[in-house]
Amino acid sequence: PVVFVLNGPNLNLLGSREPAVYGSLTLEDLEARARDVGHEVGLTVDCRQSNHEGALVDWIQEAGRSAQGIVLNAGAFTHTSVAIHDALRSVATPTIEVHLSNVHARESFRHHSYVSAVAAGIIIGLGVDGYDFALRALARRIGATAS
Ligand code: DQA
Repeated sequence: PVVFVLNGPNLNLLGSREPAVYGSLTLEDLEARARDVGHEVGLTVDCRQSNHEGALVDWIQEAGRSAQGIVLNAGAFTHTSVAIHDALRSVATPTIEVHLSNVHARESFRHHSYVSAVAAGIIIGLGVDGYDFALRALARRIGATAS
């Protein structure tokens, strides 16, 4: 099974962007870890990042045709994008919403998510480990792994 790991705006700056909030791992490190975990649990992990809302919409639609799961950190679009909400609503592929930081401990504009209502599950505030947990949860759901 194939799972897309989609990261949204500014996540290309991981490692240098507000390391106190987001940690010191780079996006490259995060994606390498995701592929390793995927390998461990029987998933082919396809990692993509874009600063553009429409690219994320296109990839969600593509996942609807060709992937069995999505791990999505939509970054700031989480809090603004009806288009991403609608794209997720239009595909049957289960999506796990991930945030590195605990958005509920931060500014109030981060407390609402357009993704949550159309997510199979949500992992918030556990840093890069959140992607690991999301992939393991998807593997179980998809039946890629017995454990
Ligand atoms: C984020 C939280 C968002 O509020 C923020 O805009 C991000 C990253 C996170 O992973 O903690 O870009 O999604």
